[in-house]
Amino acid sequence: MSNYVTPILTTDRLTLRPLTRSDADDLYAVFSDPAVMRYWSAEPWTSVASAEKAISQALDAYRDASEVRFGVELAQSGILVGTVNLHHFFGQNRRCELGYALGSAWWGKGYATEALSAALDYGFHELRLNRVEADIDPRNAASAAVLERLGFRK
Ligand SMILES: CC(C)(COP(=O)(O)OP(=O)(O)OC[C@H]1O[C@@H](n2cnc3c(N)ncnc32)[C@H](O)[C@@H]1OP(=O)(O)O)[C@@H](O)C(=O)NCCC(=O)NCCS
Repeated sequence: MSNYVTPILTTDRLTLRPLTRSDADDLYAVFSDPAVMRYWSAEPWTSVASAEKAISQALDAYRDASEVRFGVELAQSGILVGTVNLHHFFGQNRRCELGYALGSAWWGKGYATEALSAALDYGFHELRLNRVEADIDPRNAASAAVLERLGFRK
């Protein structure tokens, strides 16, 4: 049994929280958008069943505490705008990978920086991680800009 619990985190404008089955439509809206999936290693979703499957996998991960998978919600409206994951944990060297996506309507407002900063703070301080890695397409300039601002090095 791992100990990578997904808690509720709050920032000035966002709530990071576990996904629930009622998030399926909002999650589908994010991951069915070709702009969001442009540099993702999968095709855009074409059916809400993909969202339901992803939520089922998240619920399994919560049960085993094997991965941290946040839904990212706007604090004011409660709209689910994306996800942030800490996954691929290696307990022995206390490292993991970071994954994230926001719906394109919410890009360029600093939300990714705000959400990732809270998730990394949780990872380094509460989970006592030693290293977090992000694997990005080199053409994904927005993603690279966010990571560099957060202190990641190539
Ligand atoms: C990557 C992503 C999460 C960034 O979200 P965001 O909320 O727009 O990020 P922020 O607003 O916090 O910061 C974006 C930064 O990138 C910069 N940026 C945005 N588009 C850019 C582009 N095409 N070229 C260069 N920089 C760009 C912005 O100017 C901003 O930097 P600044 O604040 O210094 O000006 C979002 O674009 C996304 O979900 N993309 C699709 C999924 C994805 O690619 N995920 C990452 C997989 S590794």
